[in-house]
Amino acid sequence: MKPIKLSEGIYKLTANVEGLLFEGMWDMPRDAAVNSYIVKGDKTAIIDGFCDWDGVPEKLFELLEALEIDPATIDYLVVNHMEPDHSGWIRDFKGISEDFEVVLTKKAAALMKAYYGQEEGVRIVKTGDRLDLGGGKVLEFHEAPNVHWPETMMTLEKESGTLFSCDMFGAFGKLEQVHFDDEMTAQDRLVFEEEGLRYFANVMATFSSQVKKAITVAENLGPAVIAPGHGIVWRQNPGEIIETYKRYVDYALEATGGDVTLLWGSMYGRTEEAVRRVEALLEARGVRYHSLQLPQTTFGEVLTRVLSSSGVIVAAPTYEYQMFPPVAMALEEIGRKKLCGRKAFSFGSYGWATGTERELEEIMTRYRMKWEFVPGFVFNGRAGEEDLTTIEAGIEALLDKVRQEG
Ligand code: FEO
Repeated sequence: MKPIKLSEGIYKLTANVEGLLFEGMWDMPRDAAVNSYIVKGDKTAIIDGFCDWDGVPEKLFELLEALEIDPATIDYLVVNHMEPDHSGWIRDFKGISEDFEVVLTKKAAALMKAYYGQEEGVRIVKTGDRLDLGGGKVLEFHEAPNVHWPETMMTLEKESGTLFSCDMFGAFGKLEQVHFDDEMTAQDRLVFEEEGLRYFANVMATFSSQVKKAITVAENLGPAVIAPGHGIVWRQNPGEIIETYKRYVDYALEATGGDVTLLWGSMYGRTEEAVRRVEALLEARGVRYHSLQLPQTTFGEVLTRVLSSSGVIVAAPTYEYQMFPPVAMALEEIGRKKLCGRKAFSFGSYGWATGTERELEEIMTRYRMKWEFVPGFVFNGRAGEEDLTTIEAGIEALLDKVRQEG
């Protein structure tokens, strides 16, 4: 991939990372892109470099070479975020040049020392501080704590109005032909929505309240261009990604997505039989739903679908006096990501003892999930016609609640 010019003196350098788990755990069916940016005034700054996932920044250095920039001539390394997908190349950079300054927040400086042992040549900045690169290029810094780590900031280039927002306004999905919002087809937009949701659910959701504040900061800066650390650059309509992120925050905090997720597991098919009846009912009612079997579905996928859901149906058998563990573990992960306030209904089979409902309550309490349940239902062994009718009534009651909120 070649460097891509955003405006005079500003370039995007991108590498796709393929076949990997983000943060070592989240699957990325369409992989991911990591962006770095060059701002050239009289002096040169690189914003959020990247390294290959093996820690070696070969691709970054190749792209600098294509721009005819000798890494040794770079004056400033602006580190918006210390997570190693953006900062892992700094150690290699030190082998090339000692004559540079690292620009970052106070909290990032502490992490810089911890990760790379670097304490010298550090310029600590806070909201409103500026760095004049000469030639009309001025960088202004804005702290954005907990987007997604506590040390994060965003950098605005004043002349062009380009906001380098790092993780904020990012999405999964590798970049190939399309690099800007105005190049996206209708199909690209559908893919972006999928990968934006996946990224937000897995990376941002826990910090939705802080992300909400940072969205306001970004909006008030009135950026002409939004250039994130992952995904496409928004140059035609930066307001679109701002609105998209507001919507994702509402999905997380207010459960406004409108979908229904059916989260289920089954040992010998008894709970599954009831699940099939529920799927038929949801289809008959024209509900947009996601049926996710556990443990066959990854937690990353579960979080993505629950993010856009206002209603969740939990279907799990009892296992050794408790809930079928893969479903319980998925609920724990949903709780950790603070996807609160869903409407919900639970059902499932039990053999020689019940226990799912007690564990469900414990998980809801432990993570303060504030899900509102319509009365749940457990059946002994195989669900008879009467049991299935009771489950269907529970689903109808849940759908009523979801519709009331919508
Ligand atoms: Fe793109 Fe939080 O790392």
